[in-house]
Amino acid sequence: MIEMTLREIADAVGGTLHDVPDPEVRVTGSVEFDSRRIGSGGLFLALPGARADGHDFAAAAVAAGAVAVLAARPVGVPAVVVTPKPGTVPATSVALAGDSDGSGAAVLAALAALARASVRRLSAADARSDGAPALRVVGVTGSSGKTSTKDLLAAVLAPLGSVIAPPGSFNNELGHPWTALRADESTRFLVLELSARGPGHIAALAEVAPPSIGVVLNVGTAHLGEFGSREAIAQTKGELVEALPADGLAVLNADDPQVAAMASRTSARVVTVGQATSADIRASDIRLDDRARAIFTLHAPQGSVEVRLAVHGEHQVGNALSAAAVALECGADLATVAAALSGATAASARRMDVRTTEDGVTVVNDSYNANPDSVRAALKALVTMAKAGQTPRRSWAVLGEMAELGEESVIEHDRIGRLAVRLDVDRLVVVGTGRPSRAMHQGAVMEGSWGEESILVPDIGAAMALLDAEVESEDVVLVKASQSVGLWEVAEHLTSRERADDRRGSTEAGQ
Ligand SMILES: Nc1ncnc2c1ncn2[C@@H]1O[C@H](COP(=O)(O)OP(=O)(O)OP(=O)(O)O)[C@@H](O)[C@H]1O
Ligand SMILES: [Mg+2]
Repeated sequence: MIEMTLREIADAVGGTLHDVPDPEVRVTGSVEFDSRRIGSGGLFLALPGARADGHDFAAAAVAAGAVAVLAARPVGVPAVVVTPKPGTVPATSVALAGDSDGSGAAVLAALAALARASVRRLSAADARSDGAPALRVVGVTGSSGKTSTKDLLAAVLAPLGSVIAPPGSFNNELGHPWTALRADESTRFLVLELSARGPGHIAALAEVAPPSIGVVLNVGTAHLGEFGSREAIAQTKGELVEALPADGLAVLNADDPQVAAMASRTSARVVTVGQATSADIRASDIRLDDRARAIFTLHAPQGSVEVRLAVHGEHQVGNALSAAAVALECGADLATVAAALSGATAASARRMDVRTTEDGVTVVNDSYNANPDSVRAALKALVTMAKAGQTPRRSWAVLGEMAELGEESVIEHDRIGRLAVRLDVDRLVVVGTGRPSRAMHQGAVMEGSWGEESILVPDIGAAMALLDAEVESEDVVLVKASQSVGLWEVAEHLTSRERADDRRGSTEAGQ
């Protein structure tokens, strides 16, 4: 963040100073919610958690170098104190798990206000005394692919200047402002993932760190249960382009009609991306190699260039086009964009992470999360990998429940079961005892012809036992489910016998 005095911070967040001998002392370090990460000159954020209350760590944070604490009550050490006002933040998730009295919401609201103050200052045209360009905030939203695109964006923007992007998928009401506060005078780009569980959430996040470039990837069925309809999802995703300034840029997916239609909801310039011939930034001649990595020709007003992605799955083409559109807008040349896209590996864990075991089994760990669109994309990639070589390999899809689909849940699970059979996945292993899992299994059985296409196993242990007994050398195994299922245990079990040579070539960089 920009350096600020405690008095300025109190003004920005609407708080009062307690136990502060000198209000002019400056915060020069980072803002942290984990007292173990506090460094000299930092600001400690006291958040109530499910297990512990950050207020109890205030003294330790100051002892570790924090200048002060941002808190909901006086803590006996220098603090900016904000008063709990429940309902000021879209309170949804983990960040507020232990918030019984609204103090977490108050501290998060203060964090958001602080992030807003810092980002607005850094984004101002005269932010840099050395004449260098001001900070540009790039926001990414969509039902699937935000984190993947965020990682590609970080890679394509890096040649242009320093980039701050959240680790992994840290994009909730804590991760978003926390990441925004990592930008300082040396930062050229701040790349943020904006996700929503209901109307107004994206608008609120866009207020915290106002983007000048907004990317909308797709409108799918993720969180359909909470939203009720695809139209409601589209309405909310579009809040991102509504938040853009007139001199900003909206990057819209020409292949998704609900995203393309968002052009009418923004005063910003629009660049479309996709395979549609009308798209401004377009991909043609898409092929997949034997690891389902896409090779394609990228067409832009600047010319055409071949891109060979290192990330897996055809769905990454759209993500790459969006990243390219942003980089070109920011002044990158086409060759640099192509090189950066080709060199970009998956920087966030458990997303299409492809590894080979000592026995030659290829494991596709896409267990981070799942919704119908991402499962379809992953199944296609699985089949491509299995069938692309001269000798076809046996494909396994180990799938668990896709959460939060509301009334559509059973039908969506049934569809995935049927799709697995239609795509000719050799063995489908459905993990779980709930109705959705049974619907997926049943869909596969109904679509199949001899009844062996799908196996329903009750839990992760049973899945591992089955795979241990039946997976053979050269098989390809996809592992995917919603986060709550924790199916990565299966993938990690399989890859525990990873080949040393493959580990070197692995796309995994960890979160
Ligand atoms: N454009 C896309 N279309 C469909 N599926 C995609 C796309 N991009 C990535 N995926 C798949 O979707 C899943 C989630 O990817 P990613 O983490 O990038 O999305 P996300 O939007 O950040 O998800 P979340 O909302 O869970 O944070 C992965 O399985 C990934 O392979
Ligand atoms: Mg994400």
